[in-house]
Formats: sequence, C-alpha cells, structure tokens
Amino acid sequence: MRVLITGSSGQIGTNLGLRLVADGHDVFGIDKRLNTWTDGFRYLLQDLSGHYPAYPGGINGVDYPEVDVVVHLAAHAKVHQLVRQPHRALENAVMTFNVLEFARQQRLPIVFASSREVYGDVRRFEGYDEATADFAFTESTYSASKIAGEAFVYSYARCYGLPYLVFRFSNVYGRFDNDLHRMVRVLPLFIHSMLRDEPITVFGGSEKTLDFTYVDDCVEGIARGVDALVEGRVVNQTINLAFGQGNTLVRAAELIAGELGVEPRTTIAPSLLGEVTHYVADIRKARSLLDWEPRVSLDEGIPRAVAWFREQRAAHPEEDRPVVSEDSEIGWKSYASGSS
Ligand SMILES: NC(=O)c1ccc[n+]([C@@H]2O[C@H](COP(=O)([O-])OP(=O)(O)OC[C@H]3O[C@@H](n4cnc5c(N)ncnc54)[C@H](O)[C@@H]3O)[C@@H](O)[C@H]2O)c1
Repeated sequence: MRVLITGSSGQIGTNLGLRLVADGHDVFGIDKRLNTWTDGFRYLLQDLSGHYPAYPGGINGVDYPEVDVVVHLAAHAKVHQLVRQPHRALENAVMTFNVLEFARQQRLPIVFASSREVYGDVRRFEGYDEATADFAFTESTYSASKIAGEAFVYSYARCYGLPYLVFRFSNVYGRFDNDLHRMVRVLPLFIHSMLRDEPITVFGGSEKTLDFTYVDDCVEGIARGVDALVEGRVVNQTINLAFGQGNTLVRAAELIAGELGVEPRTTIAPSLLGEVTHYVADIRKARSLLDWEPRVSLDEGIPRAVAWFREQRAAHPEEDRPVVSEDSEIGWKSYASGSS
C-alpha cells in the first residue's frame, strides 16, 4: 500500500510510519516540523492549517505522490494548550477540512485520529462504547476540535461517499514521545522529573484514572484498520483504541518510580481546565472488527518506556534541563471560572 500520513513527525506518526515501512508499505509523510527521530520514510514539510483553495493533486498547490489511503494524524494534540490557545482548536478543524477535501478529490479512504476526549468528563455512562459520546457535553476546545473533525468525516461519508475509519485514542505512551520541550506528555514528564530528582504534580486528584495505551498496541490497531479499510472489509466505523483498563495516574507514577529505583515526591493538585479525570475504554468493537488484542499492560509498558527514554537521554544529554510547562500555571482554572 501507498500510505499518506499527516502529522508524520509526531509520536504516533513516527511509530506508524516506521511500522508500515517495516511491513513493506510505501509511506509518504506530511508535517510542518522536521522529524527529530528518524529519516526512515519520505516526508514533505507543509503547514496544513491554511485556508487553501481546492487543488486536486495535493494541498495548497503542491502535488503529492499517488497514494491509496490517508491517515490523518496532524493536529495540535495537547488538551490544556488548546484551552489556553483556542485558535489552535480551529486550526485542527481547518487541517481536517483540507485533508478531507484532498481525499474527496482523489477518492481516497481516510483514517481520522480522534480522541477519548469526545466522551467528556460527565461520568453519566456505565462504560464508554462508541455510541455513548454525547456532543452536548464538550469538555474542552480540544474536544471540540475532535468532535468537529469527526462530524466533518461523517458528513463527507454521507454527502460524498468517502470511506473512513475514526479511531479514538487514549494516552498513548512508550516511544518517540520524549520531546518534552515541544510538548509535555505526562508519563515522559514523570520519567524526566524523577530522573532529575524533581517533584511531580498529579493534576486531577489521586483518583484520576486513565486508560494508558502502549504505542505498539495503538499502531497495531491502526495498521489493521488501514488494511481493512483499503480492502473494504471494515468501512465507516468509529473505534476506541486503548488498552481497556483504568489505572490511576498515581499508580503510573509509582510504577515509573519503581523502575527508576527512586521515591516519588508527588503533589496532588486540582484538575486542569478541560481535562478528563476518568476514562476506561470499551474496546470490544476493535477486538471484533479488527481481530485486534492489546498486548502490553501498564506494568509491562512502563519498563519499556523507561528503558527507551533512558537510551534517548544518554544519546541526548542536552535535553536534561528543566521543562517549562504551561500546566504549572493552574491559576487559569480559577480565572476562567471567575472565582478569583
Ligand atoms: N498521543 C495520544 O495519546 C493521543 C490521544 C488521543 C488522540 N491523539 C491524536 O492522535 C494524533 C497524533 O497524536 P500524537 O500524539 O502523535 O501528536 P504529536 O503532537 O506528537 O503529532 C502531531 C503532529 O502534527 C503536526 N502538526 C501540527 N500542526 C500541523 C500543521 N498545521 N501542519 C502540519 N502538521 C502539523 C505536529 O508538528 C506533530 O508532529 C493527533 O491528532 C492527536 O490529537 C493522540
């Protein structure tokens, strides 16, 4: 297969690109940033968020090579950043629109990267099967951008017959996720901080429970989905892709500390505005449609993630410096809710 991956310099894009190349597929990436981890596949540097006129061969007058399927991962992917900078949520929607227009003109099936964030944090459901997302309870501007993206995808399927798969990911971790000075992700940040003997903060309370997904499980699911979509076996489906088990963030921190042989110094703080505090995916649909099974529990994934992080840190000691995190400015929540 010839696969176009947008967001190919990001965490999932890099993992997926290398996996598909290893499987013998032809990968062409698009990203607005250089890939800092690999030159294992071709990619184009392009900003996908402009308001571009329709152009059949690519986006913004650039001809892409011929492909069989598009995997659209490009996005501003950090929830709280989009609460602080909502224009980025709109850019996510524009990117999705541009990529959908390209797919429509080329008659290409598309995989769209959505998120568990579309379920919100209302805890009204027993579980989170794909049908329970209720878009009246949009938790954050990031969620809004994913809901908008999904809605555009569904409308293109209805109006133009565009075949799609939507995947809802959840806290993917494990490899190509250590670029903390660009984008803070919680597990690599904990590894980084504990290696530096710095304290960590768990936003969202000691009960905050998330469904952490080891990146190889995520990529395996996408790869199966891409195959099935191109062959027409599984079409026009929305699928949760996660491990299917909840773990508290506190426990994840303890596992990391155990692996590093340190005692974590943990502060529990209120949730950041827009962030979800409880999610455990219902993955029955992924199992049945894709014959997929997640293999790496958090207990097994954390040692792998820590080992990879340490290897990278040894190769790039210059990254051993404080991470400046916007998340520490928690005054935002009270400011936004008008309470102080
Ligand atoms: N990683 C997760 O835990 C997770 C969870 C749920 C959903 N997702 C979604 O999966 C997708 C991939 O996530 P990720 O973790 O790899 O994120 P990432 O930030 O590592 O990768 C996204 C890539 O998109 C690129 N991008 C952003 N704006 C762009 C633009 N205007 N033009 C071109 N490229 C642009 C970025 O440069 C980046 O390389 C995203 O859509 C994200 O919202 C990820």
